[in-house]
Amino acid sequence: MANKGKVKVGIIGSQFEADIHAASFKIMPEEAEVVAVASPTPGHPEELARRYGIPRVFHDYRQMLKEKDIEMVTIAAPNYLHAQMTIDIANAGKHVVCEKPLCMTLEEADEMVETCQKQGVLFMYAEELFFTPKYVRAKQLADEGAFGKVYLVKQSEKHFGPHAEWFWDVERSGGGVFMDMGCHGIAFCYWFYNRSPIKSVYCQMGTYVHGDITRGEDNTLCILEFENGGVALIEDSWARHGGMDDRIEVFGSGGLTYANLHMGNALITYSQHGYGYVVEKAPTSTGWTFTTYEELWNYGFPQEMAHFARCVRGKEEPQATGEDGRVVQEVLYAGYESARTGKKVELPFRPKGVKKPIDLWFGEH
Ligand SMILES: NC(=O)c1ccc[n+]([C@@H]2O[C@H](COP(=O)([O-])OP(=O)(O)OC[C@H]3O[C@@H](n4cnc5c(N)ncnc54)[C@H](O)[C@@H]3O)[C@@H](O)[C@H]2O)c1
Repeated sequence: MANKGKVKVGIIGSQFEADIHAASFKIMPEEAEVVAVASPTPGHPEELARRYGIPRVFHDYRQMLKEKDIEMVTIAAPNYLHAQMTIDIANAGKHVVCEKPLCMTLEEADEMVETCQKQGVLFMYAEELFFTPKYVRAKQLADEGAFGKVYLVKQSEKHFGPHAEWFWDVERSGGGVFMDMGCHGIAFCYWFYNRSPIKSVYCQMGTYVHGDITRGEDNTLCILEFENGGVALIEDSWARHGGMDDRIEVFGSGGLTYANLHMGNALITYSQHGYGYVVEKAPTSTGWTFTTYEELWNYGFPQEMAHFARCVRGKEEPQATGEDGRVVQEVLYAGYESARTGKKVELPFRPKGVKKPIDLWFGEH
């Protein structure tokens, strides 16, 4: 494997998030180049390859892992496949970038971390909120002392539900919106409090709008207490109309900040005729809309992928790791448990033999 020049990347998956990975490497092309894509559906990886000029296409990712020059592989496949893919990538001697949420179970998380350690490869966790420029700025202010002692961090992410059918199937996703987007808020608040250990988790959740198509919850509230005395409130929804909403609020003894990622940045547009792209998951482009621009950059995806490539070259230390993903996984378990019992769950909370986090809400483990 080369250890200079651009990092050679393979992508697993060819749809929504794989497109974001490929586009991100194109936006910041200095550090890495995508040389291969692997995804099973005939025509899909070919289409991604055509769009982004990716030279090699595979339908079985294991074949792609045999390519000697590939140094880093990003996983943009459904959640239930993350663990096996991570282990296969690590055993092929390649660095891993795994999408959120890390996996289905804590046993898998342990095995993923251990295999990467054993094989001496980096295990990077694709939590782009650690790279979202507006949120990075908020954290800088907090770290500079702008807000005094921070006592409450809020993060929320809401839209009307995911684009692909597997998200709704808890066997493949592991849970509903808490698993899908709560994982962002948990990671974000943990990172914002400089990884102060999480003491307790309280969650309320329900399936309010989409009960006809999923057993998964579509609206959640989650409160975390941290050892440093800080509190987090994380709200997530698949039941909110109007396209993607992602925002934070930070409160401290000496100040506060509000950062609204999409609506706060957007062009406020009125169109009788409609137009092309509004924002992720927007249902319409007519009437009043919040028109996004530089969406991937504002989320931090290109910066995240460039950082991971720099880590492969030893220029930076990973800022988002499999260990972070494992912390989030434990909070997901605790959150579902809390939603079932109605009680606060103290960490550590590591029940064995759980098949998927949402089973703790169903009481089915
Ligand atoms: N960071 C973020 O904000 C963000 C946003 C969206 C999705 N994601 C995550 O990315 C992952 C993928 O989600 P998505 O929205 O792209 O889903 P998607 O359904 O749009 O795409 C999934 C892709 O995985 C491929 N796939 C399925 N089985 C496979 C296999 N055995 N081998 C190789 N590829 C296989 C599918 O063919 C498809 O190309 C999920 O874990 C999701 O949580 C993260």
